[in-house]
Amino acid sequence: MRFPILTPEEAADLFYNDCNCGFSGFTAPGAPKVVTQAIAAKAERLHEQGEPFKINIITGASTSDKCDGMLARANAIGRRTPYQNHPDLRKRINSHDAHYYDLHLSETAQKLRYGFLGDLDLAIIEVSDIQDDGTCVVGTGVGNVPTIAQYAKRIVIELNEKLRHALYGLHDIYLPLDPPNRREIPIFKASDRIGSPVLKLDPEKIVGVVMSDSYEGVKPFTPLDETTQMIGANVCRFLIGEMNAGRIPSSFLPIQSGVGNVANAVLYGLADAKEIPPFEMYTEVIQDAVIDLMKKGRCKFGSTSSLTVSNEVEEEVISNIDFFKEHLVIRPVEISNNPEVIRRLGVIAMNTALEADIFGNINSTHVTGTRMMNGIGGSGDFTRNAYVSIFSCPSITKEGKISNIVPMVSHVDHTEHSVDVIVTDQGIADLRGLDPVQRAHVIIDNCAHPMYRELLRDYLKLSTRGGQTPHTLEASLAFHTEFLSSGDMRNVNWGKFIS
Ligand code: COA
Repeated sequence: MRFPILTPEEAADLFYNDCNCGFSGFTAPGAPKVVTQAIAAKAERLHEQGEPFKINIITGASTSDKCDGMLARANAIGRRTPYQNHPDLRKRINSHDAHYYDLHLSETAQKLRYGFLGDLDLAIIEVSDIQDDGTCVVGTGVGNVPTIAQYAKRIVIELNEKLRHALYGLHDIYLPLDPPNRREIPIFKASDRIGSPVLKLDPEKIVGVVMSDSYEGVKPFTPLDETTQMIGANVCRFLIGEMNAGRIPSSFLPIQSGVGNVANAVLYGLADAKEIPPFEMYTEVIQDAVIDLMKKGRCKFGSTSSLTVSNEVEEEVISNIDFFKEHLVIRPVEISNNPEVIRRLGVIAMNTALEADIFGNINSTHVTGTRMMNGIGGSGDFTRNAYVSIFSCPSITKEGKISNIVPMVSHVDHTEHSVDVIVTDQGIADLRGLDPVQRAHVIIDNCAHPMYRELLRDYLKLSTRGGQTPHTLEASLAFHTEFLSSGDMRNVNWGKFIS
């Protein structure tokens, strides 16, 4: 190989305080694993000596403990964008140790190219193979790697031996032109390939190669419980009803599924819903459940930006790679989440809410309106452009002390205009064509937990000021303020708001 082999420590030495870095990958797969650990160790050393050291990071989405986790614990992250989901980074963000710019995942690459995010000094790119001319096969998560590679001044490669010679043919690397020269993105079905199986890096920018040899899967999901199973069953019931009514074609439409335990449960529900024909996915992450659906013939094809599976499932995919190359394509997130393509294909979007309000607005990111949980991820890319957009969540959380259906969301990620259907363990609220008060009744009756229904109905009756959306502003966040003061939303007392 023409590139020098570096130790992780030698590579970490290239990184300096306040440098702007781009990382490959999307979720743990494809993200750097070894150089980031050495950067975290360097940060700790420098901090002990009283020297400042933080780096600014642009990724595809969340990463892993060896990246966001270790860097956050070392307080080595100055700025971070876009999505993250690590508990230690979450703490740094909420304590203002790290500046977090949360944005729609499909927009990160173009914002970088437009110059909105500053220059990129360095990149770390995981590859499974690399040639002397810089042609490489990237890892199992693509994210923003084509743009990061194009814009970074210097590139450190992490060559993952574990994936070596396995992945050629799995990726479809494509970069759109920027306005005013942008053309249509010619994807007309989920399985269309429009780019290259390899990424061409400028060999002059590659400063060295660091070897690695491990899978970096995600932790397995919480086992399904009664609540998540009921949510999954309700989503399937809705989809079957739409198909029977002729609103979804009998050949079905591509599905997008969000992240987390609830989304995983919905996918498992699809395995059992035999009324739904085998379907395709146009989505940003393929989780364990989808691999299972592919093996069973339920999922015919998956377009994704990452193989976000556990180590065990990744091992299985690599061992049967020829089968999965016929059923999977991994794209840059700019394409997997592209609004133009999502709308053209008629994607059925299924995402998860932290809370929904009775008028149909969704909070996916901020606990009690202030504390960042993860980020908006791709939920906005899909929701706003979907054929039909579904949000799911449990009706209650923390043994009923929290109602996930509230009078007014404490933070808005998706407005009522982008939300077609809300599903909880209690049932389905189909909001299409309804005005705010009609929506409120359907959401309370069908989705709120029985122990909160009267409280929510009484909230609607409080309003004496009229208006199309009958809020009582003094009381609209009382569920949240009650939870913050007494620890239980059920203690809310509307009496004090009646004048
Ligand atoms: N108030 C306070 N805490 C809440 C809450 C609420 N209204 N709703 C849920 N929580 C807590 C849960 O109790 C749980 O806490 P724990 O970790 O202490 O047990 C945690 O939030 C996660 O809830 P869970 O029900 O397990 O949800 P999940 O794993 O399905 O994740 C989101 C839900 C919303 C956090 C997650 O889907 C997300 O980050 N979404 C935004 C990004 C996105 O949609 N990306 C997909 C695009 S393709």
